[in-house]
Amino acid sequence: MNLFPTPVSKILLGDCREIVPTLGTFDFVFADPPFNIGHPYKGYNDNREDYESFTGEWIEACWNACSGVLALHGPDCLAEAYLIHARRLGMRRIAWVNWHYRFGQCNSSNWIDARTHCLLFAKTAKTTWNPATVEVVSDRVGYGDKRIGDYAKGGKRLPGTVWGVPSDGKYWGRVTGNNTERNAGHPNQLPENYLERLLLAYTNPHDRVLDPFCGSGTTATVAIGLERSCVSIDVSESNCQSAHARVLRGMRVCRALTGEGVK
Ligand SMILES: C[S@@+](CC[C@H](N)C(=O)[O-])C[C@H]1O[C@@H](n2cnc3c(N)ncnc32)[C@H](O)[C@@H]1O
Repeated sequence: MNLFPTPVSKILLGDCREIVPTLGTFDFVFADPPFNIGHPYKGYNDNREDYESFTGEWIEACWNACSGVLALHGPDCLAEAYLIHARRLGMRRIAWVNWHYRFGQCNSSNWIDARTHCLLFAKTAKTTWNPATVEVVSDRVGYGDKRIGDYAKGGKRLPGTVWGVPSDGKYWGRVTGNNTERNAGHPNQLPENYLERLLLAYTNPHDRVLDPFCGSGTTATVAIGLERSCVSIDVSESNCQSAHARVLRGMRVCRALTGEGVK
């Protein structure tokens, strides 16, 4: 008998609302859905008339499948919907993080978008929480702040609720065309660092992770790199294929490029 089975990645083709209820439960669920902005994607239509009911249906399916923490990622308009559905479903919010990205679309009529939201909900009172795995060096260190000297941790502290700030290090911007992390044809690809921080904090090796909107496979790639199992779902066959190829290539930025992150 193998007491330490190798974590596996499964990528399933189809509508997450139909597939998720058939999969059992997961320790951590990360959802980054389509935004309904009419962007032409290969293999699926981002613009849907039933977007509101669609949103309620996938959130409910994911919440039912979650035994630990559910992370709902998205822009401002989705954050509003997340709060409404969280109240409807009695979901307990444990954190609200903003990812500050530094490559928003240029714009002269309003402020340039520079954040997305990640609302985190817990199914049970006690959840997995590994603060030591995600600490960063405090900005106080740079100021020679005497209080840092008292810290047994050597000037480290937990990140704040805004991620992508200078103390977080490089590679937190939107994954753009000139970023070596970016997979062709995936304008919404998230940085590996972002998923890495979530998975380190809220899961342990060999835990089960679900990503109902796989896209380029960021969650699966990082999960396997951190020895977690991951089931990913996407309606686009070409996205499933490119995500699978990416998982096989493995994590790139955190380990190979910067040497930051994974300890
Ligand atoms: C915003 S992208 C996810 C990006 C991903 N987080 C990444 O880092 O690459 C949303 C994805 O959801 C997929 N999708 C849209 N509707 C879906 C549905 N009903 N079920 C599963 N996947 C769906 C799209 O094909 C797209 O790849």
